[in-house]
Amino acid sequence: MRVVEIEKLDIEDSFEVSLRPNLWDEYIGQETIKKNLQVFIQAAKMRQENLDHILFFGPPGLGKTTLAHIIANEMDTNIKVISAPMIEKSGDLAAILTNLQSGDILFIDEIHRLKSSIEEVLYPAMEDFRLDLVIGSGPAAQTIKIDIEKFTLIGATTRAGMLSNPLRDRFGMNFRMQFYSHEELAQIITIAAGKLNKPINQQAAIEIAKRSRATPRIALRLLKRVRDFSDVANEESISLKTAQFALDQLGVNENGFDELDLAYLRLLCNAKKPLGLSTIGAALSEDEETIEDVIEPYLLANGYIERTARGRVATKKSYELLNFKTHDSLF
Ligand SMILES: Nc1ncnc2c1ncn2[C@@H]1O[C@H](COP(=O)(O)OP(=O)(O)O)[C@@H](O)[C@H]1O
Ligand SMILES: [Mg+2]
Repeated sequence: MRVVEIEKLDIEDSFEVSLRPNLWDEYIGQETIKKNLQVFIQAAKMRQENLDHILFFGPPGLGKTTLAHIIANEMDTNIKVISAPMIEKSGDLAAILTNLQSGDILFIDEIHRLKSSIEEVLYPAMEDFRLDLVIGSGPAAQTIKIDIEKFTLIGATTRAGMLSNPLRDRFGMNFRMQFYSHEELAQIITIAAGKLNKPINQQAAIEIAKRSRATPRIALRLLKRVRDFSDVANEESISLKTAQFALDQLGVNENGFDELDLAYLRLLCNAKKPLGLSTIGAALSEDEETIEDVIEPYLLANGYIERTARGRVATKKSYELLNFKTHDSLF
């Protein structure tokens, strides 16, 4: 596993779950999303209504699942968590929906991966809180309509572009997650260190933050590893020196790039021409989805690469980072 691996390996990573904030106070950053949600939650509570369906999109590890849990906590409702690839048949989804109680939240992770036949069960459920079940087949097939309780669907996706239009249109609220600043990450790291009973020096927290690819999940992973070094060094609290040493040992460089990021950038810089997604995937032996959802968003947001009609190109910033001679004609 990569140290800066962002995809969670399984749904219940107990380390992460233990550090997951349940309250707004501990949810750092994403200020616009937070303010909007707080208003919608308050309004829904005042009117004693359900929250509208909500869609979160953005790269892995930025806090989508955490937000769903905070919302459930604030609304004082149950939350049922499911990942779209786990739903195999439309009957599975129908069973989940009929078991929801009034006001419950259904959280569907990776919602862009729902099969279209299953998606269709969701449309009337989201719109009219109704299931249209087809019984039998051929000329004898019958549709029966079943009412279900009013629920709130929260969907999370790494790519909004892959959601079908009818599904996207049925969400009352859409929020795009932002990458985090060093200060925000340092705050998240400090709070987490407190929960782990291992205080951390402010400079050390900033150092980890800088190397976390602007992503809380990576920051927490790195904190966990740095804590090991600090414990072994018998430190009361994590020092800057130990943090730097540990991160160097782990091979996480100053931009938070790991081997895969660097291999990606080297490939583009060497190519000196735009490369298509499939070429990049083949060269790095990674699937295209990982490249698009995990590697590229951070590089794009920070100006290391650009996406053109002809493919991906490295920017001057990448050539400089890798100490490549830039071909002036390229820029
Ligand atoms: N804004 C935040 N403030 C504090 N901790 C956060 C924040 N966002 C994410 N985290 C931490 O990072 C971990 C990963 O976040 P998660 O919600 O699972 O990301 P996503 O669902 O977008 O992949 C969480 O367990 C949580 O501890
Ligand atoms: Mg998640």
